[in-house]
Amino acid sequence: MPENVNRQWVLKSRPDGMPKESDLELIETPIPETRHGELLVKNLWMSIDPYMRGRLRDGPSYAEPVPIGGVLQGESVGRVVESKLEGFKSGDIVRGHIGWQEYGILDVTGAHTVDTSLGPISTSVGVLGMPGLTAYFGLLEVNRPQPGDTIVVSAASGAVGAIVGQIAKIMSCRVVGIAGSDEKVSYIVDELGFDAGINYKTQDVASAIEAACPNGVDGYFDNVGGEITEAVMPYFNLYARMAICGRISEYNEDTPSMGPRVMRFVHAKQAVVEGFLVFRWEDRYEEGRARLAQWVKNGQIKYLEDVVEGFENAPKAFIGQLGGANFGKLLIKVSDE
Ligand SMILES: NC(=O)c1ccc[n+]([C@@H]2O[C@H](COP(=O)([O-])OP(=O)(O)OC[C@H]3O[C@@H](n4cnc5c(N)ncnc54)[C@H](OP(=O)(O)O)[C@@H]3O)[C@@H](O)[C@H]2O)c1
Repeated sequence: MPENVNRQWVLKSRPDGMPKESDLELIETPIPETRHGELLVKNLWMSIDPYMRGRLRDGPSYAEPVPIGGVLQGESVGRVVESKLEGFKSGDIVRGHIGWQEYGILDVTGAHTVDTSLGPISTSVGVLGMPGLTAYFGLLEVNRPQPGDTIVVSAASGAVGAIVGQIAKIMSCRVVGIAGSDEKVSYIVDELGFDAGINYKTQDVASAIEAACPNGVDGYFDNVGGEITEAVMPYFNLYARMAICGRISEYNEDTPSMGPRVMRFVHAKQAVVEGFLVFRWEDRYEEGRARLAQWVKNGQIKYLEDVVEGFENAPKAFIGQLGGANFGKLLIKVSDE
């Protein structure tokens, strides 16, 4: 057993707007004791995800907010240090909601064995984990692309967006991605094979969509909300399908901001706008994971990881993600494998 210290990031104050590093505090506590039916897990790779911003707000949501003084929540992949749970042994690689701490306890409801034959273990919280599954089910079940459709995806170089675009290419669609830098745009077009890319920070999104989508937009996979979405919707085709996956541009707002009234485009084009949370398809995760793993294996899906070394750098990385600093799936390398 290592030195009896567990470093944890806890919530010190609720952020007002963009979180600040001072809203979080790094504390040391003893490593928790493992009880019957539990695993003690050493955190190796910690996933940093935009939804964590919502957990810092005290308000009605689909998930409980982190209390003041509570450990930040999130999924990780780690190594079992001690097992008092049947079916697991010390040394096993598991995935689960360990939280922002170096050691965590998982029980039978929260510990998931990682199939290490599918790829590097970090992918179990990336392309073969929640973000990849979000892309897979959101695109295929909500956008329901048909060959020849034009699919637009925002936050297109990110953990979810990059996979959405590549699956849409596999489905023989025309794919247009929107991202926040020229480097990200050239990555999705030159490396991932998107048909066109738009830098929303330097281009007028509406006219760029018009130019990149000469046949209009059949499916929009929305990761960002706000002004970008408002610029895409006027180009919807008849019966267009919009999947609301995320609204990162609005995550720091406590009250919704006012935008143009876009429902006219939904009405006139008889479009379907559907929000989703990936948990809807929890009973089909293994199907999605197997298909994603196959596509990665045969080179049809590439993935990029943005690895930040060191547990102490988690808040900086998280705040950076909310401003677009990450390039690919954001991970904290907490410890060597
Ligand atoms: N529904 C679900 O079940 C589900 C599951 C997972 C994720 N999500 C959502 O999916 C979205 C993408 O998540 P991810 O994990 O793949 O993150 P990500 O794309 O890897 O990282 C977030 C990216 O969002 C972009 N962004 C940040 N602020 C923005 C703004 N104001 N306007 C436009 N773009 C902005 C940035 O890229 P740029 O440099 O391109 O701006 C940033 O890199 C998020 O909204 C997340 O909440 C939903």
